[in-house]
Amino acid sequence: MILAKRHQLSRRSAVLGLASLGLASLGLASLAIGSPLVLRSRSARADFDLELAPPLRSHLRTSGIRYGCAGAAPNVQPDRILLEKFATEANIFVPETSLKWDQTEPRPGEFNFTEGDSIAAFAARNDMVVHGHTLVWYAAIPPWVSQISTSQEANAALERHITTQVSRYRGKIWAWDVVNEAIEPEDHLDNGLRNSVWLHSLGAEYIDLAFRLARTADPAAPLCLSEYGIEYATASSQRRRDALLALLQKLRDRNTPIDCLALQSHLEAHQILDHRELTVFLRSVVKLGYRLLITEMDVNDVKVRGSEPERDLAVARHTAEFLDIVFSVAPPLSIATWGLSDRYTWLHQYYKRWDGTPLRPLPLDAGLNRKPMWTSLAKYIAAQ
Ligand code: XIL
Repeated sequence: MILAKRHQLSRRSAVLGLASLGLASLGLASLAIGSPLVLRSRSARADFDLELAPPLRSHLRTSGIRYGCAGAAPNVQPDRILLEKFATEANIFVPETSLKWDQTEPRPGEFNFTEGDSIAAFAARNDMVVHGHTLVWYAAIPPWVSQISTSQEANAALERHITTQVSRYRGKIWAWDVVNEAIEPEDHLDNGLRNSVWLHSLGAEYIDLAFRLARTADPAAPLCLSEYGIEYATASSQRRRDALLALLQKLRDRNTPIDCLALQSHLEAHQILDHRELTVFLRSVVKLGYRLLITEMDVNDVKVRGSEPERDLAVARHTAEFLDIVFSVAPPLSIATWGLSDRYTWLHQYYKRWDGTPLRPLPLDAGLNRKPMWTSLAKYIAAQ
């Protein structure tokens, strides 16, 4: 009861705060407009409107843009209400961990697709597609993979893994993150590539090999290179943009079958987006013939000060500002968030706010109510 009241209050201040914060440009102002009613009914009406707005997945018909979110497989997901919300809002299911190497091939040649199959079945039942995440990564690999040392072993392992996994889900997985996080300028290699077991055993050609194997196993699915950390006006973001663009250029020169750049988009609301450099970077990527996807979006509010509604507005604004940059270059094929509700986000285990309150980086709050970030997403997903 007390909790419900507090919640109502915070929602009300969120709504009332919108007009004064000048959020008309986000399309959020309509929430604050209403007939001259008493404050209480005004907020109730605004919430009601927000909850009744068509779900994010509904815009596919008109805009062609899918909305997805990452989560646990239905066969291991105890939160059935959250799962139901997934199917209501999203038409892409992104396996958060289920298709990573340590899950699917824990021992050489011994595959386990129980979770992946559960996701594929859930997706089919709910008219969703599955985004394949991920085939080749430096992390989430079983011990036997980390111990690979020769190029023969690495070749054989990649071939068996990619061919088996991609063939199994041919026609069910609409796009694959083939290589994840290949860049790490802080490893101080000439080309900015990450010093992983794959680079170590095969050299930079491991990327080409992975994409060729994936293309052979599923000629129709768009194949993506997935990367993070490229959005801000920082030296680190600039190094990452430079290294990534150089890599994408080389892959084109070598005729590697790669279709898309997957922008992970793990954002931080307190940072400053580099409009100019990010736009220049994305334009160059598109000019090379790559499509863009947004695949793991969340907006970390770990350092944002203020009340809960103020934090939610900062997150919504950051979301809109980022999407504005991407859309001004090219509308992405899809937008996926890394989770749906603040109830569960991977960020909880890595970041703690100084005031001890939980992070609020996702479109729905922990009670599964739509937040201002949801409205920012809706505006861009509906864009034509
Ligand atoms: C994260 C998952 O969310 C966590 O549950 C897991 O413990 C570690 O991996 N970039 C990626 C994702 O490509 O695979 C990561 O997912 C988050 C960062």
